[in-house]
Amino acid sequence: MAESLKISKCGSKEDVYRELLPQIESVIAATKDMVANMANVAAILKTAFDFHWVGFYRAVKPEALILGPFQGPLACVDIPFSKGVCGAAARTQKTVIVPDVEQFPGHIACSSLSKSEIVVPGIVNGKTAFVLDVDSDRLDAFDDIDRAWLEKIVTALLRAAS
Ligand code: SME
Repeated sequence: MAESLKISKCGSKEDVYRELLPQIESVIAATKDMVANMANVAAILKTAFDFHWVGFYRAVKPEALILGPFQGPLACVDIPFSKGVCGAAARTQKTVIVPDVEQFPGHIACSSLSKSEIVVPGIVNGKTAFVLDVDSDRLDAFDDIDRAWLEKIVTALLRAAS
């Protein structure tokens, strides 16, 4: 259960992800409901890491994302696939890491405190179903470790819903 998360405070970032993944898998096994599971995954990631914002945008309309469950400050509601880091990940169906959001053309600044960002798409039957978006208030906060583990978390979410 989320309230009994075990997170070691002295391990590396990868140690924390490694500890979290089975706990996430256990929590999201309780339902196939994607929105409920997104809500718990956002809460778990926000609890475990010092992320500024963590949450989901869902592709419920063609070529457009709408805000889903998240933790952090208020966020933009609608993002077309043609805009922002989220749109780029949704469009290309690839994880996008942005070390400095000010250098990313078309970045959508929901919070002026966001400095770097990673967005991981969730693909169902060849179509982008949602993106997991994580923002940091530090420059260059995300690397291939985040990419690998956040992609595993997105895969677990997709599996839980199937
Ligand atoms: N910065 C994102 C928008 C979403 S917020 O960061 C929560 C983007 O450029 O797509």
